[in-house]
Amino acid sequence: MQKQSLSLIILAAGKGTRMKSDLPKVLHKVANREMLNLVIDAAKTLNPKNITLVVSKDVLAYQNDIKSHHPELDLRFVLQKEKLGTGHATKAAIEKMGQDIADKCLILYGDTPLISSKTMTQIISNLDVCDVCIAAFECVNANMYGRLIVDKQGNLQKIVEFKDANDSEKKINLCNSGIMAINGKKISGLVNKINNNNNSQEYYLTDIVDIATNSNLTVSYSKVSELEVLGVNSKVELSQIESLKQDSLRQEMMQNGVTLIDPKSTFLSFDSKIGKNCIIYPNVFLGNGVEIGDNVEIKSFSHIENAQIGKNCIIGPFARIRPQSKIADDCKIGNFVEIKKANIGIGTKINHLSYVGDCDIGKNSNIGAGTITCNYDGKNKYKTTIGNNSFIGSNCSLIAPISIGDDCLIGAGSVINKDVDNGDLAIARSKQINIKDGVKKLSKNKY
Ligand code: UD1
Ligand code: MG
Repeated sequence: MQKQSLSLIILAAGKGTRMKSDLPKVLHKVANREMLNLVIDAAKTLNPKNITLVVSKDVLAYQNDIKSHHPELDLRFVLQKEKLGTGHATKAAIEKMGQDIADKCLILYGDTPLISSKTMTQIISNLDVCDVCIAAFECVNANMYGRLIVDKQGNLQKIVEFKDANDSEKKINLCNSGIMAINGKKISGLVNKINNNNNSQEYYLTDIVDIATNSNLTVSYSKVSELEVLGVNSKVELSQIESLKQDSLRQEMMQNGVTLIDPKSTFLSFDSKIGKNCIIYPNVFLGNGVEIGDNVEIKSFSHIENAQIGKNCIIGPFARIRPQSKIADDCKIGNFVEIKKANIGIGTKINHLSYVGDCDIGKNSNIGAGTITCNYDGKNKYKTTIGNNSFIGSNCSLIAPISIGDDCLIGAGSVINKDVDNGDLAIARSKQINIKDGVKKLSKNKY
């Protein structure tokens, strides 16, 4: 796809003091993905020429990790040493880009992760008819956003920060989302004129509206949904954004034909994939990297992370499927079963109370209740292999490393520490002795 002549600038150097967290604000997760990565995900759908991120020292330390999530992009990081305001941050990005500034620029915030490509496109398209376009929204509740001052003809004059606004300006309900598109050929000249003559002694990017108007450039605003431009400043706001994101992921799933019996109690991740005709029962958690095939039922209280589940499976209730697990088609993983780093072949059933870790199991095998793969000796992890059509009786301990072949039968209650060949029966438990009238004899102290 051809790149747009578009430069994206993501401002993400703010301190995030109100998060009261050791982790930088923009690295807090929403739907299991860092907010900054979500913004980059949205940004790259526009296929821009370049993306520049203005970050603090704390975020810069994560730059390789962030880049690894977007290997196809050439992300440029700029350190903003002193937080002197959004205007100052934008200037740092422009200086970093040098000659690489495209014809159109879009400013995004690293803490505003719900922005959609449709809305960004809407704002950018205004640059065909003006030099600066602000994404604005009508607010219902009181808030501290900057206010758009519009004259009687409906022309945007300037933006006043809430803390600098007078009483009548504070009553205006047209707010600045912070997202704005700027003509790439004009941005440098405009940003260089921003000063810090205001109550906070900060360089406000929003001043470029006033500067542009006074330089006979055209400015405009475009209304967007408040829900898409909500920012995160505290853990409470993070939870509100999480809930909005979850709602939109759930809607998308249901529109694609997944039945969520109780959507509010289904937790999804940004990358969850669920096939057709699946039914997700109440209280299910899907962590990162979950792919579920068609016709699967995930029953209540199941917790699944980084795992692939094939078609026609029934999982749970109360199943825990941990990372690096692959469950093939037609499997049943029942209650209180934990699967970790395991390949489970087609049609295999592990129905109750088992731990299966570091394990390969073939097709159509049956793992009885309470079976444990003993994979860890306190120092190292070892592998268990079970072939096709084997039956492991209930309450067996399989001491790894161990290999059990095809068509094997393992007697219930066995502790197995020697390999079992194809077709063999293995029993490893103490022999039972039945003593005739033993109960009576015992009570008469005959032993
Ligand atoms: C800003 C806008 C305000 C708007 C609001 C929307 C200005 C002056 N004000 O205010 O009109 O209603 O956003 O949320 O632009 N940042 C830096 N470096 C800095 C300062 C900020 O990178 O020196 C980044 C922050 O990480 C954040 C974004 O810029 O992603 C906005 O900064 P923030 O301090 O939250 O601005 P607001 O006061 O909310
Ligand atoms: Mg803010």
